[in-house]
Amino acid sequence: MRDNRTGQEYDVPIVDGTIKAADVGKIRTDEENPGLAVYDPGFVNTASCRSSVTYIDGEKGILEYRGYPIEQLAEHSNFLEVAYLLVHGHLPSKAEYDAWEHEITYHTFVHENVKGFMEGFRYDAHPMGILMASVGALSTFYPESRNISDADNRHMQIVRMIAKMPTLGAWAFRNAQGKPYVYPDNELSYTENFLAMLFKMSEKKFEADERLVKALDVLFILHADHEQNCSTNAVRSVGSSQVDPYSAVAAGIGALYGPLHGGANEAVLRMLRRIGSKENIPAFIEGVKNGNERLMGFGHRVYKNFDPRATIIKKACDDVFEVTGVNPLLEIAKELEKIALEDEYFVKRKLYPNVDFYSGLIYEAFQFPPEMFTVLFAIGRTPGWLAQWLELVQDKEQKIARPKQIYTGDRGLDFVPAAERWKQ
Ligand code: ACO
Repeated sequence: MRDNRTGQEYDVPIVDGTIKAADVGKIRTDEENPGLAVYDPGFVNTASCRSSVTYIDGEKGILEYRGYPIEQLAEHSNFLEVAYLLVHGHLPSKAEYDAWEHEITYHTFVHENVKGFMEGFRYDAHPMGILMASVGALSTFYPESRNISDADNRHMQIVRMIAKMPTLGAWAFRNAQGKPYVYPDNELSYTENFLAMLFKMSEKKFEADERLVKALDVLFILHADHEQNCSTNAVRSVGSSQVDPYSAVAAGIGALYGPLHGGANEAVLRMLRRIGSKENIPAFIEGVKNGNERLMGFGHRVYKNFDPRATIIKKACDDVFEVTGVNPLLEIAKELEKIALEDEYFVKRKLYPNVDFYSGLIYEAFQFPPEMFTVLFAIGRTPGWLAQWLELVQDKEQKIARPKQIYTGDRGLDFVPAAERWKQ
């Protein structure tokens, strides 16, 4: 690298397609001035860690967890096994899977005091706010979780969090509905149990249609990790202070809550409703092309040819609608997709349906209100957050997250006491 201020040249090693920011920092005009830094709002081109959890190739539309393609995991695995894979880095043996399933199943209950404070939220409290607060509060129930250097202790908290997330999510939902909370049923599978805690009323045993259970399980798998996205970065950033994992994951839930991250599928539903019928699609597309509208559920920062998760979700739609009846918005969505994929504007900009284009339709078929969509995302993403957190706390190269800034404010002003400033 040549510093064009001084003409001096520096040999900066390129490793794994990156240069070290610390090496760039050695480039300086003189000892008085700080070294060169990189300005990268939103970390668009900055690698913050080495990770072996998730691989994405946006150009080719590849998503792999620990090296396994998402398509194979969605078809042949289940969410708990994928959670094991993400957290442990390998697929479980029969004995490992049984132990994992047993542990997760038997930690689904939460302390009664958790229920008590959840009941304290207002009737119209957003379930994502309740989830964030409750997960953060779990750190006070398990103060030993602060001991993040102990492997057994870390494992215990990971199990607890994956196990309790559906309980908290379902209770947040029941809170909004004014319905009594349903306790976990340890005889049910992870996803079935979640559905039971959401929808069970007076029946003795809740029985969900297998196709619905499978579809929701697949949706959890598809959302389980997505490398260094906004919420994962939040988990890692907060976790880098060596706080307990509940506090770190609560930060991730906060990040996911935002409309630019977890909220797009809700926007897709609003858009489809606004379009209203197939005849209105051409006018809507014209609006998008004129820059007056945005085709929600299309385009992705990383995927530039297709989002592999969208293809899987589209298939899951058919299974769900077989049980629930077709959502009339599906027809509009399919036609919209067809027209957009043939249109020069979208083709040129490499805009394809993303994971959110169809997921909202499925969630609606389950009768989830839109506020619950992000909660479902959070439940699915929990093993990913924890796998990334685990990697972080064991990574010797990691330090407390502390980016630099380019200071643009005043310097060296003289403070004038209020009594003098406010004198007429
Ligand atoms: N509809 C219409 N035009 C679009 C869309 C869209 N959905 N997405 C991108 N474009 C256009 C942009 O206007 C821009 O056009 P220009 O070159 O003429 O200015 C071009 O395509 C490139 O777009 P960028 O905004 O630069 O792409 P970026 O990578 O920054 O944005 C994003 C990606 C935010 C996902 C964007 O495509 C978008 O807003 N999509 C709709 C919202 C959405 O579905 N979000 C969910 C993402 S998946 C997830 O988070 C789980």
